[in-house]
Amino acid sequence: MAVKMWAGRTAGTTDKRADDFNSSISFDSRMYRQDIKGSMAHASMLGAKGIISKEEADTLIDGLEKILNDIESGELAINMECEDIHMFVEQVLTERLGDVGKKLHTARSRNDQVALDLRMNLRDEADTVISLLKELIDALLSQAKANKMTIMPGYTHLQRAQPITFAHHLLAYCMMLLRDIDRFSDMKKRLNISPIGSCALAGTTYDTDRFYEAKLLGFDGVCQNSIDGVSDRDFAVEFLNCSATLMMHLSRLSEEIILWSSWEFKFVELSDAYTTGSSIMPQKKNPDMAELIRGKTGRVYGDLIGLLTTLKGLPLAYNKDMQEDKEGVFDAVDTVKMCLSIAIPMIATMTVRADNMKKAAQEGFINATDLADYLVKKGMPFRTAYKISGTIVAECIKRRKVLEDLTLDEYKTYSELFDTDIFEEISLETCVAKRISFGGTSVSSVEKQIAFVETELSK
Ligand code: ARG
Repeated sequence: MAVKMWAGRTAGTTDKRADDFNSSISFDSRMYRQDIKGSMAHASMLGAKGIISKEEADTLIDGLEKILNDIESGELAINMECEDIHMFVEQVLTERLGDVGKKLHTARSRNDQVALDLRMNLRDEADTVISLLKELIDALLSQAKANKMTIMPGYTHLQRAQPITFAHHLLAYCMMLLRDIDRFSDMKKRLNISPIGSCALAGTTYDTDRFYEAKLLGFDGVCQNSIDGVSDRDFAVEFLNCSATLMMHLSRLSEEIILWSSWEFKFVELSDAYTTGSSIMPQKKNPDMAELIRGKTGRVYGDLIGLLTTLKGLPLAYNKDMQEDKEGVFDAVDTVKMCLSIAIPMIATMTVRADNMKKAAQEGFINATDLADYLVKKGMPFRTAYKISGTIVAECIKRRKVLEDLTLDEYKTYSELFDTDIFEEISLETCVAKRISFGGTSVSSVEKQIAFVETELSK
């Protein structure tokens, strides 16, 4: 039984089972970098304010730098027997430096230290997620650019609705993912506020400089209230919120890819590199990656609800329950990064079957709205035109025909307003080309959307 660093009030000897239960090092050791950087800034502040001597500060900073290098080079293994990463670093520092090492924790508590580490960690992770998001948007954009003229049925209720282009459809996802970037960036504004110097909860009697320390660590400001500083986990909730919304988007995209790559649709073919076979059915090419992204969405939602639930009953300030914040957040971080990393090449290498999209577009009467609009433009009230078009569609279904198959004479039996230009008007190309309203499916409108996405990406 190792004697704890906090031995004093108690003997500091705990049951092995209690140790294991209490320990967080198995999951907070991934914050070693932020923990050490945070401690270096703290030592620097203590030295600058004369709370410890300049030489002591330099010794601490130097010692911490060495610990960081040794961990990264593999020379120093993180001891999983320690309670948490904060204790581990301080213990190694003290072993290496003697009494000076024991000065590091002056005017600090693990309560503000852990809040600092997690903020710094999620700040780094948010940047990684944002850059992966940009790569995914880029992959979607390349496919969109190559498919500005690829006509497919647009769906509502998963029923063929109106002709659109594949580019237009993919750009809808670009817009969602751009909002995700915006959400992560906005979340960072509240995350990038330093809690360090809040100490256990009440602040400190030492003449510290929280602003100095925050600045050294790249924060935009400091928490205004020390109790809030150690109790607040909104930033982690917000990170999970952004992650859950992002996963919802990835899941919808995955769902479509799964549908599109089925024999029923055959709109796209995934590269062999992102599919699997079946152990029994030789014909199978399964979209497992897309399915897993869809599946993993649930666990990220779970991470969000888990943390909200952990926090909801907690009195101020720090409670050990808060140690439960990390596993869920890290799980979400890893899941989101993994899903984005697989979605990027999967989209980039996906083959588009424009022929099948066109075929599907030709079969679902998706130009019926345009047929009605034709009559409206010739002076008929919309509701009347809608009814006539519906009747024509019903008749076509009965006779196993499509709107393009009817003769002008047949059209004229429904309304005298029909003329030779009707065929041009209901061609799928015209239906797409004429949807020039802002944000619509016409090539010119889609090109504006592409330009918009490119501008946003370059920001
Ligand atoms: N491992 C702890 C956590 O993750 C660090 C803070 C411990 N603070 C304390 N007062 N026991 O929350």
